[in-house]
Amino acid sequence: MLNKSFKIRPLTDTFGAEIYDIKLSGEISSEDLAQIKALWNRYEILLFRQQDIGKDELVGFSRLLGSLETHVRSEWLNETHPEILQISNINVDGKPVGALADGEVGWHYDQIYLPRPALGSLLYSVKIPPEGGSTFFADMTSAYERLPRSLKDMVDGRQAIQSYDNFNNLYSTKTSSKQTNLTQNIAQPLVRTHPVTGRKALYLCPGMTIAIAGLEETESTDVLRQLFDWTLKTEFVYKHLWDVGDGLLWDNACTMHRREPFDGGHERLMFRTTILPADDRSVPF
Ligand code: OGA
Ligand code: MN
Repeated sequence: MLNKSFKIRPLTDTFGAEIYDIKLSGEISSEDLAQIKALWNRYEILLFRQQDIGKDELVGFSRLLGSLETHVRSEWLNETHPEILQISNINVDGKPVGALADGEVGWHYDQIYLPRPALGSLLYSVKIPPEGGSTFFADMTSAYERLPRSLKDMVDGRQAIQSYDNFNNLYSTKTSSKQTNLTQNIAQPLVRTHPVTGRKALYLCPGMTIAIAGLEETESTDVLRQLFDWTLKTEFVYKHLWDVGDGLLWDNACTMHRREPFDGGHERLMFRTTILPADDRSVPF
């Protein structure tokens, strides 16, 4: 039987696509799943609008893409569905129910600070403020492929130091001592080969990358600044304006993201699942 192709709309010239006519809460055939995975690899981020999806279904759909991680920030996991990390500024009994509150969240790659970072994240919007709180994504594959020769020569074969602590100091809250032990600073390749597609992408982000290994501090700072300036050129960036019911699936091996702040007088609630890579492809190279 011939398989129907999803109708899609590219979000930018190089990456991102909205997929139409799919209900993430419904049955997903193996043909549809293969197509979603192929589109995800090709486009790096996929947008599914007008979803009406419960927690069981969100977890169920996410599991089709890989096994799921229980995030290290246990204080913000959903009570009944620990596979879901809540991102929110809502407080209950004086305690935040989710991560990242209402402030600016700088550019970061989810989990670049772990030895085996997740391959993807799926963020589903439950409640959004009337304005602000948009999320921006940068296409690090194109940023690498178009990198000027002089900078390419600086990054190829090098490693950089990634720090979750740096990110938390700037944009979040401190980890507990147990969480700190699990998230120590780590060196990762500065150019990462995608574990599925084999394409190369810049693997660095202003929020977590604190130094290039093997360079003097001034040179490291200077090269990082040049690389950040380059990757943040508008041609590599997509801005997502949220609607309730949007599901956004991104690739953590080749995109980084940031969120703009919003008025804390309004509530924002998002559910995130975190998708692990296959065991034999899990260490960045
Ligand atoms: C995340 C994240 C930003 C946002 O879920 O990893 O960075 O827009 N979220 O809430
Ligand atoms: Mn994130």
